[in-house]
Amino acid sequence: MDRLFVTGGARLDGIVRVAGAKNSALKLMAASLMAPGRSTVRNVPRISDCAVMAEMLEHFGVEVIQEGDTFALDASDVVDVEAPHELVRAMRASIVVLGPLLARCGRARVSLPGGDEIGARPVDLHVRGLERMGATVGAEHGFLVAEAARLRGAPITLDYPSVTATENLLMAAVLAKGTTVIDNAAREPEIADLAMFLTSMGARIAGAGSSTIEIDGVDALEPADHTTLPDRIEAGTWAAAAVATRGDVTVSNAVPEHLELLLSKLSDAGAAVSFGDDGLRIRQEGRVRAMDFVTLPYPGIATDFQPILMAMLATADGTSIATENVFEARFLYVGELLRMGADIRTEGHHAVIRGVERLSAAPVRALDIRAGAAMVIAGLCAEGVTEVADMQHVDRGYEDFEAKLERLGAEVRRERELVTLP
Ligand code: UD1
Repeated sequence: MDRLFVTGGARLDGIVRVAGAKNSALKLMAASLMAPGRSTVRNVPRISDCAVMAEMLEHFGVEVIQEGDTFALDASDVVDVEAPHELVRAMRASIVVLGPLLARCGRARVSLPGGDEIGARPVDLHVRGLERMGATVGAEHGFLVAEAARLRGAPITLDYPSVTATENLLMAAVLAKGTTVIDNAAREPEIADLAMFLTSMGARIAGAGSSTIEIDGVDALEPADHTTLPDRIEAGTWAAAAVATRGDVTVSNAVPEHLELLLSKLSDAGAAVSFGDDGLRIRQEGRVRAMDFVTLPYPGIATDFQPILMAMLATADGTSIATENVFEARFLYVGELLRMGADIRTEGHHAVIRGVERLSAAPVRALDIRAGAAMVIAGLCAEGVTEVADMQHVDRGYEDFEAKLERLGAEVRRERELVTLP
């Protein structure tokens, strides 16, 4: 349970390069299960979630060879179809192995993820979609058990454009018999990235990245080689941190089209945003201006940005209103910001943020990946040294987080928890 000590008052300045997208790499790694032979996934971020996914694949019998940010994944033999509780507990996104295992092996047992710090996060949409494709899905002893000798293509309309449900159903449909049409599909760029990888494996997919995806099932897939797209959430985190600290940061390797609405909101807050050969440059002079924002499925503002924008607006000039539409309990971390002197009131899905002149350092906790990043940003805007506990959450999603912060001029120090052996 590492702690990060963040000295307040730094103005972030310089260039930061974003890693590959966590929410893409995890699905690409899971998709490698579907093709016998050796696939390669490049530009995988060096974060603990990807290490958990590698461990999960090894557990199924995949040979995993990692060289830097490249993973060679040999799925010639898949010998186990059970995703164990220890790994699913460490990473809820493990649910994305359900579709690939079922499609490849005709059977999958995935531990039920349970709740977490941002709400209940059910998997009913995954289950109903697979049932539409002819699978039998049940729950026993805390596991979701799915079976289907061969899935059948089917029309599926999602009640809500869930990201991982869309991905599970997309992967399952690729090896199904016949055509599947997923309506009200999630449109996140990571879904189009996954579809590109599957297409290079031999899948037949049209419309990924739009709300209707059509998949013509094929009998088998071939291994393929794919480079993960850049992480838009990491890019947006640095952009918002630049604004919060009145800095001047160039975010290289970012894809501006994936950040359109966020960048327009940062402009509303007073930032100058420009695009050059080096990447995306964000400069903020003077105090952040208050602004309202609403989280929505893509292309709306990602729910992952919500805590980060709240930390940024905590010291804004004026009152902002944030509306969280994606997860029902994503304001739990607000209590930590209050401990730093923020003036925020939440009511259901809304938060009213009255900007204060300055935050004051306090010991706080990282409740999840993005709330953790938000605490560090708040710490940069606070008077004194903020101690952020439970940094392991941040390590799940950000590669080299504090090294990047230091290169941008922040003063941070990690204290590792010493494990005493019996
Ligand atoms: C993914 C991302 C996560 C991001 C989120 C929303 C990964 C690994 N994680 O999570 O970082 O914050 O998208 O952009 O890609 N829901 C149901 N039933 C279901 C599935 C979802 O009711 O079967 C609800 C959830 O409770 C939530 C909403 O749908 O309220 C959105 O969840 P979803 O899009 O599924 O998020 P994840 O795929 O878990």
